[in-house]
Amino acid sequence: MDRIRLVGGNPLHGDITISGAKNAALPLMIASLLSDEPLVLTNVPRLADVKQLERILENHGVDIAVHGRRRGESDDGGQRMTFHAADIVDTTAPYDLVSKMRASFWVIGPLLARCHEARVSLPGGCAIGTRPVDLFLFGLKELGAEIDIDDGYVVAKAPKGGLIGARIVFPKVSVGATHTLLMAATLAKGTTVIENAAQEPEITNVAECLVAMGAKISGIGTRTLTIEGVEKLHGANVEVIPDRIETGTFAMAAAMTGGDVFLRGARADHLQSALDILAKTGVDLTTEAGGIRVTRNGNGIQPVDVETHPFPGFPTDLQAQFMALMTMSQGTSHVRETIFENRYMHVAELARFGADIAVDGQLATIRGKSQLKGAQVMATDLRASVSLVIAGLAAKGETIVNRIYHLDRGFERLEDKLSRCGAEIERLAG
Ligand code: EPU
Repeated sequence: MDRIRLVGGNPLHGDITISGAKNAALPLMIASLLSDEPLVLTNVPRLADVKQLERILENHGVDIAVHGRRRGESDDGGQRMTFHAADIVDTTAPYDLVSKMRASFWVIGPLLARCHEARVSLPGGCAIGTRPVDLFLFGLKELGAEIDIDDGYVVAKAPKGGLIGARIVFPKVSVGATHTLLMAATLAKGTTVIENAAQEPEITNVAECLVAMGAKISGIGTRTLTIEGVEKLHGANVEVIPDRIETGTFAMAAAMTGGDVFLRGARADHLQSALDILAKTGVDLTTEAGGIRVTRNGNGIQPVDVETHPFPGFPTDLQAQFMALMTMSQGTSHVRETIFENRYMHVAELARFGADIAVDGQLATIRGKSQLKGAQVMATDLRASVSLVIAGLAAKGETIVNRIYHLDRGFERLEDKLSRCGAEIERLAG
């Protein structure tokens, strides 16, 4: 297995181009199942999760093509890809494919809407929590689906003639359940209202893609989505939004090391809460044409308390990275994780750098002023892994991050982007 070796201490200086958002690209790819016409996506990041979803979609019969660079496009831009689901040949998403990536469960929405049936393996738990699918099943039942669990699979059948529009009031905000029900409702008969919908920018990206495909959706970007079902969706051309979690991660890396980094393509309106928190820590953030500049010139990091919340709150996907930053602050800070029950696996690994963090249930207390020292570390999920990389950038001496396949799931050319800004970082082949 590949590892990353880095030597901390260099401030970051330079430009980092932000890639397309993993968590938008995945549901956009899944949306291609809704139409027999091609969906063209641009700015698709080159990530292991994208590759894995390609395998799943191909198994359903989707033809996938990656196109070359066009005149005027930069060489570090994302991929232009076509997804053509002319004929869905298989409505089963098997265990060996779904178990590798939870978001693949979301195919259940479009398959059920278009083919009136779906058999999708339950995704199982994962390192950050149990992550049940009750909200998905509740919503699909509201649209008239009959659901059975058989041999580890969710077997869903639409009523004769297809799904029927309904009012769905989610008891809890879920990104995945919102994506899935939104997609399912586009082809249902009549009107669907989704209340307590997730409002993440990735949901908006998908809703706008569905509108470009001919769906009728109002309330995009709000807690209530209203969908008038249509007979058929057509092809479209849609751009994946920039990755706000990658943006926040590099902003925190620059905050930790000091320096001056321009995050090209980053959108401040997609991560305002995290930028506000970073500003309170003493980092300078300026929104410029085409991106965000992050600077810290020698001044200390102030301790700030944070609670994770659904958008527009502080994202759980930046919690580990923020905790790494707080280990260097001038005092004591607190982090409360409210989305996932088990998202503190990075705590034990950060301790290997000399960090002082105590966890009590969902509350972590971070005593700052640590001069981190390089260490051998390893993490069990994507965001935890990258928190170890940014801690290593600020630590004294050499750090080896093991098991980096998690990083490849969600960060495009991480070592390359950081080394271009002066970090001493390299990949060691396993
Ligand atoms: N939940 C339920 N029942 C359900 C669905 C969710 O109880 O049927 C719970 C979850 O267990 C969790 C909470 O609701 O406690 C929120 O989960 P949500 O469904 O919103 O998460 P998700 O859709 O599975 C997406 C991202 C995650 C991100 C979360 C929260 C993608 C592909 N994944 O997951 O991203 O942390 O939203 O913002 O979009 C990552 O990229 O590293 C990652 C984990």
